[in-house]
Amino acid sequence: MKYVIISNRLPVTVTHTPSGIAFSRSGGGLATGLDSLKTDVSKHWLGWCGVHVDDEEERAEIDATLAKDLLHPVYLTQEQIEDYYEGYSNSTIWPLCHYFYSYIVYDEKFRQAYWEVNELFCREAVKVVEPGDLVWVQDYQLMLLPAMIRERVPDVGIGYFHHIPFPSYELFRCLPERSDILRGLLGADLVGFHTHDYMRHFISAAYRVLNVECQVNEVQLFDRVSETEAFPMGINYDLYHNAMTTPSVQTIAEGMRAIAGDSKIILSVDRLDYSKGILVRLRSFADFLENHPEFRGRVSLVMVVVPSRDAVEMYADLKTAIDREVGALNGKYTSVGWIPVHYFYRSFSFEELAALYHTADVALVTPLRDDMNLVAKEYVATKRERPGVLILSEMAGAADELRQAIIVNPTDGKHIENALLQALTMPEEDQWAALRPMQELLQRRSVDVWVQEFMDELRRAKDRNDRLKSKFLGEERIREIQDRYRTASRRLLVFDYDGTLAPFVSDPKLAVPSEELRTALGRLADDPANTIVISSGRDKKTLDTWFPNPRIRLSAEHGAFFRDNGAWHGDYGQMVWGDDILAIVQRVTDHTPGSHIENKQTSLVWHYRDVAN
Ligand code: UDP
Ligand code: G6P
Repeated sequence: MKYVIISNRLPVTVTHTPSGIAFSRSGGGLATGLDSLKTDVSKHWLGWCGVHVDDEEERAEIDATLAKDLLHPVYLTQEQIEDYYEGYSNSTIWPLCHYFYSYIVYDEKFRQAYWEVNELFCREAVKVVEPGDLVWVQDYQLMLLPAMIRERVPDVGIGYFHHIPFPSYELFRCLPERSDILRGLLGADLVGFHTHDYMRHFISAAYRVLNVECQVNEVQLFDRVSETEAFPMGINYDLYHNAMTTPSVQTIAEGMRAIAGDSKIILSVDRLDYSKGILVRLRSFADFLENHPEFRGRVSLVMVVVPSRDAVEMYADLKTAIDREVGALNGKYTSVGWIPVHYFYRSFSFEELAALYHTADVALVTPLRDDMNLVAKEYVATKRERPGVLILSEMAGAADELRQAIIVNPTDGKHIENALLQALTMPEEDQWAALRPMQELLQRRSVDVWVQEFMDELRRAKDRNDRLKSKFLGEERIREIQDRYRTASRRLLVFDYDGTLAPFVSDPKLAVPSEELRTALGRLADDPANTIVISSGRDKKTLDTWFPNPRIRLSAEHGAFFRDNGAWHGDYGQMVWGDDILAIVQRVTDHTPGSHIENKQTSLVWHYRDVAN
């Protein structure tokens, strides 16, 4: 048994340099969490290496180097990078899941590439995955993969984690491929989200789009269950909390402090992304300076924007808009010796980032929509000698946990402005009083706990599905039933009708028995050693019409009536319901589109099977 992690990107980035291929390992959250997973089981990782590599020799070199760390690269063509990664993943699914409806691009070429690349990942995966393994698929770029792997290697535990928001059904239903995407995800034994809200949206979408049976946290499929659960991702707390004990980080932090002088620092760190609310944040800061002139010259915004997906039109446009906004703001307010916005469009190393977190008096984290947001957690964790205040968007998953932060509505500029004033004037003891409980929580719920809990839950979900599978009749059990049938001198065979002899359909009148079924039942009934009974909730008349053969016994309306040798027993007359009761049921039916009433002889039935659709 082994663990196989599959994500769009490997935790190693490969780059072409003038001296050949270079490898850089990212210590991203998931990689750190997995490293800390205490297990003797080997951990493999499969994913795209981040660049386009055509040359066979280069590929061989990459394969050989990565294989030493059990890493398995997947190679994408330039076209696949454009249509699968920049296209369907980041121009269709990303805006959909982040509630940017008008940004969604539908393009058949993108869709095809997404299917093709998920297939490609599957082909590469089955070279590594063996029965009994635990496979963990990561994120929205690979939503079809769980079902694809399950089809090729049925006996594996498959987990999937959705690292971005899952939109409400009302939005998700707009996606033309909604059913395929859901079926892909339901190939997993366990589907994880960062927050309960997104988990509920997923269950609601599965219920309404696929019309499958769902409980609060599971979807019932034909022969197994797909469970879902919220696992808020943590960070490597000790790494951040101890960062300031490292001399190199201290040196960088001293340099930063010296540059800032007496000015307070407000920090903002994001990937270039419209979901991060960077423009609203800049405008709120401009309004703050406008409305609070006493802070001019005394506070600066240090804004780190990490380049990301800039080949996608919306991202390129955003970059231009940020450049313009920063230029206008600095042009208006800069004075000799003071710059309001220090803007960095590049990636920072861990040491630089930790030094920034340490130095910043306020962290302004205001995404318009974010599954979790790790920057907020890292800022809080780094605080040691110097306190600080976290201003956090209520739309970030982290806000569920970091409740002592100043929580703001990220679209409400005035709210952000007021939060800045509150943060910049907060006494130090109040800052510590807010930081301490958040630090305790982050230490307790670190990323290794997150990985451990997901893996434990996945193992449990797989065991449960293995037990469910064993309830289905295997070949051996079927042979045993056949033997006992052959040797029995008398047999009683009782059949349920709807859902057993005939499939459930939206209009019950259409669940007519097939000719094949009637013939089979007739042949069974011809054997004098057999007593055949069909037990159903249907009324007498329907069953009589469908099964005229008198040798078949019928139990109608759940046993209220019984037909034996062609004659019906049990006569209660037509039950009459009071008008007041009928009026109530009728009103509920009118208010519940898709439901209908069936007035049987002994009962009044309200059918709601089709309501969700
Ligand atoms: N980060 C980084 N270098 C930078 C800026 C950010 O490595 O210059 C890291 C940061 O430490 C954090 C991650 O990028 O762990 C961003 O994660 P987050 O959940 O905040 O946003 P995402 O990019 O996943 O939307
Ligand atoms: C988000 C997504 C990740 C993705 C990361 C960076 O955190 O959930 O799946 O890897 O952004 O984006 P990129 O497009 O550079 O991989």
